[in-house]
Amino acid sequence: MNTILVGAQWGDEGKGKIIDVLTEQADVVVRYAGGNNAGHTVFIGPKKYILHLVPSGILRPGKRCVIGNGVVVDPLSLVEEIQGLRRLGVKVGGNLAVSETAHVVLPYHRELDAQRESLQGGQKIGTTKRGIGPAYGDKAARVGLRVNDLIDPARLEEKLSQRIRENNEVLKALGAKPLSLKKVFTEYRAAGKYLKPFVANTVVLLHEAMRRGEDILFEGAQGTFLDIDHGTYPFVTSSNTTAGGACAGSGVPPHRMDRVVGVMKAYTTRVGEGPLPTENAQVADLLHGMGREFGSTTGRARRCGWFDAVATRQATMVNGIDGLAVTNLDGLDTVETIKVCVAYRHGKKRFDFVPNDARLLGECKPVYAGFEGWRTPTDRVRQWKDLPPKARAYLKAVAALSGAKLFIVSVGPARDQTIFV
Ligand code: IMP
Repeated sequence: MNTILVGAQWGDEGKGKIIDVLTEQADVVVRYAGGNNAGHTVFIGPKKYILHLVPSGILRPGKRCVIGNGVVVDPLSLVEEIQGLRRLGVKVGGNLAVSETAHVVLPYHRELDAQRESLQGGQKIGTTKRGIGPAYGDKAARVGLRVNDLIDPARLEEKLSQRIRENNEVLKALGAKPLSLKKVFTEYRAAGKYLKPFVANTVVLLHEAMRRGEDILFEGAQGTFLDIDHGTYPFVTSSNTTAGGACAGSGVPPHRMDRVVGVMKAYTTRVGEGPLPTENAQVADLLHGMGREFGSTTGRARRCGWFDAVATRQATMVNGIDGLAVTNLDGLDTVETIKVCVAYRHGKKRFDFVPNDARLLGECKPVYAGFEGWRTPTDRVRQWKDLPPKARAYLKAVAALSGAKLFIVSVGPARDQTIFV
């Protein structure tokens, strides 16, 4: 069975943990979009792993991991991640393949990302400054370097010298320091040499796996509302984070996908700028006070709010979500009355879907339904029947409003804090 796992909100839904749990039943785990802007946190016993580019399947022996063609790879970051995993005793070798056609993130992408953000001032996106937008921009403009170029020193030098010449003019115009070709080439040639053994035609590799009847898990990064097409543009990332992106970003066709699992928190969070209709200071204080909701890639405090069922309903639609994984239920254990946004109101107009205009969405007021809190810890619960009845009622309502079946409930970061419904 091939499964696509996506974030149904604004990213950071706790996908890393659910992917890790589902990986048990998969043979191959594939990243299909985004880059090292993602941060998937996985706890195994006392050890905490934060993965940025390498699929979390790497933590389970015997699983193969693929960084697909739809990903943008920062080679320096990938080398560092592999070295870090190896230091922690995780085997990284023949179990990791990197697509030869994935695009490469280069220093001018990171620099342009930072420069554009600072020039935007009040209008900034709040990116992770990992160069993701400019790297996808070059891919679309057909001036990007791919992993194939990275591992061939002659081609790398030729393409880098052209690209650095052009980008240095842009950087200078923006008031930034130009880059040294020699320095960049030396660093990236070394990274290319280190990564060469991992580079493969991952489309062929995945089709061979399917011919052997193996199960593939497609690991989404970011979330539905950060999708370049379906998100709250321009406050989005630069890739198709939604389920459709899994096909384009891996070369596995749509009819080979069997199910889509949508991960959502029991409340809502967002990092970076852009509309978040249910944002609420009390919810933020509660969660931050518990030491929760700080970004795993940038450490930024996440913005927090009540569960937004208008958004998750739309996510179900766009991704074709069959099964829901609701995470962080335990974050609401102490709340007296839990609110859920069931519609938006803008003046006299009511919206039952997410308007496509970010400014309009920012002006929308949530229409809330209230749910009685269960006010008892859930982190030790392992069975659906042992959850407090009010927690079950809340979860059932959230699933019904989102329009999909409840599949998994997560009550903490550990592998065993997982309830299959
Ligand atoms: P970029 O992907 O770095 O260009 O950032 C664009 C927007 O997506 C910003 O609001 C980021 O905070 C957000 N973003 C990117 N990656 C993640 C992620 O993995 N989790 C949550 N938000 C993200």
